Amino acid sequence: MFQRTHHCNQLRESHIGQTVSIAGWVNAFRDHGTGLIFVDLRDREGLTQLVFDTEDSSQDLVDAADKIRNEDVVVATGVVRERDGGPNPKLETGKIEVVVQSVQILGKTDTLPFLPSDEENLPGEELRLRYRYLDLRRPKMQQILRTRHRVTKIARDYFDEQGFLEIETPILCKSTPEGARDFVVPSRLQPGEWYALPQSPQLFKQILMVAGCEKYLQICRCFRDEDPRADRQAEFTQIDCEMSFVDREDVMQTMEGFARTLWKAVLDYDAPAFERITYRDAMDRFGSDRPDTRFSLEIVDISDLAAKTDFGVFKSALDKDRGVVRAIRVPGGAKKLTRKLTDGYSEFVKQFGAGGIPVSKYNGTAFETGVARFVEPIAAELAERLGCEEGDTILFGADSYSTCVKALGELRLKVAKDMDVIPQGKWNFLWVVDFPMFEYDDDDGRFYSLHHPFTAPNPDQLDAFLAADTADRDTIEGIVSAGYDMVVNGSEIGGGSIRIHQKNVQERVFTLLGISPEDAAEKFSFLLDALRFGAPPHGGVAFGLDRLVMHLCGTDNIRDVIAFPKTQTGGDLMSGAPGEVSDAQMEELHVKSTWEGE
Ligand code: AMO
Repeated sequence: MFQRTHHCNQLRESHIGQTVSIAGWVNAFRDHGTGLIFVDLRDREGLTQLVFDTEDSSQDLVDAADKIRNEDVVVATGVVRERDGGPNPKLETGKIEVVVQSVQILGKTDTLPFLPSDEENLPGEELRLRYRYLDLRRPKMQQILRTRHRVTKIARDYFDEQGFLEIETPILCKSTPEGARDFVVPSRLQPGEWYALPQSPQLFKQILMVAGCEKYLQICRCFRDEDPRADRQAEFTQIDCEMSFVDREDVMQTMEGFARTLWKAVLDYDAPAFERITYRDAMDRFGSDRPDTRFSLEIVDISDLAAKTDFGVFKSALDKDRGVVRAIRVPGGAKKLTRKLTDGYSEFVKQFGAGGIPVSKYNGTAFETGVARFVEPIAAELAERLGCEEGDTILFGADSYSTCVKALGELRLKVAKDMDVIPQGKWNFLWVVDFPMFEYDDDDGRFYSLHHPFTAPNPDQLDAFLAADTADRDTIEGIVSAGYDMVVNGSEIGGGSIRIHQKNVQERVFTLLGISPEDAAEKFSFLLDALRFGAPPHGGVAFGLDRLVMHLCGTDNIRDVIAFPKTQTGGDLMSGAPGEVSDAQMEELHVKSTWEGE
């Protein structure tokens, strides 16, 4: 048995003269042939330098030292002394070293696929994910895991103080639509029936409110079978909350308090009161429902001016249903945005359905280059509307409203990077509020919920909602919900709403969404039932835990903040999941595969 007396970031000058034992991984091994062998020992707390004095030591100890290699796990016992070669200011233990008297290799390593201590020469992510245990040994990754732990601890403490109860909800659920595809699990005991993994505990947390729990918290896993992105995984974690007897304001204050507490505790940052922006404003000015307001580059409507020109691109856009022309003024763009870049912008916006990006420059008195001659008739008004100054580049978008703002919104982010105008170390928190309850999908010819079907209309909209004719698209689209999203620096870190707690309102939402009473009864009967038996007014939020940790750790890759993440194709490179199952297993589950391979 070995016993360590200290961890590897603990010994200081005050320990000099003491005999200690420390254990960990060999971070570096140096034999300069001068009679001294140096080993940096690493555990999750830090590094300590061990010294083997080959001249003063027994042959056994020298032989043992000779066998040590990088990433072996060793325990060493020795005496702390002042560091012989002078202090190493880079290490917290840099003033001391441990002169080893005995050493034992507890875990020998094979040849390593990569050295976790060599940050400069790390391999690609694939290899790191395959050997995730080596990757996680890196101090940077250990730091992230630690921050993640702190975030969950702060969440539990904060919500506990506010009277929230942590309650678990099932992982094997009934499939309910929440926007994404479900992961499903076959039932052995009920042949032909399937469970779905929860996309979120939405219905259960509402039921807990009907059950009288009043304040619920869960740090829960959610599963959505959608393609991963830089900030999206199929399997992710929410800090999920629900409260009874509250209005929108109560929930937003509580949740804002949590985000502030978190940023203060982890980054010592005092966030000012969060700004609020309506969904419509966010879309109009930033082309996004999660606007990054750290920089300007706002989108400005110039449809009325564009209508006065003969420019075909403007004209055909304005002829479209809900067609608009909008522009972004890029201060200093004339110098920084090369022709190659602006040509690229036209290509870039095509992925968002836009045709291209007309461009011009402003020289202080007139527009020149690009589409200057087309905007000549409106030059003075345009310059005034946009606040043009010498050296500006103007980027135009002309399309249906939704395509135009979406394309300009995405372009705005790209231009901000190209112009290098995104300030670092700044946190712009805001709430997006007053979302439309429903948006109409032209392709499918039906309404969808912008949040989810359990979101209530804003109280002042309830009567209008109940009275609205379901065929009256404009009125329906004008109904604003009691939903809210929390955004920081252009990233949605949380979202929620006040819920519907009256059965008739819930049923009407289902009708509007084209969910028949039979379908609703089949999928949500338990919710509709619960709403019949005395449901309190309630609302809540879910934070994306992974995204919170991403921000707090300064990474833009969600895989960095998850111990065992999935790849782009949903694989776990370390365990090999997903994998085949045996025919016997399939049979037991009454499942047959139709997959014939490629
Ligand atoms: P929503 O779907 O907006 O709401 O999710 C809440 C928050 O979870 C995070 N998030 C994700 N993080 C990583 N990968 C994903 N695939 C992913 N999807 C969402 C985001 C988001 O803001 N039940 C409702 C909440 C409620 O109404 O209370 C819900 O799940 O940060």
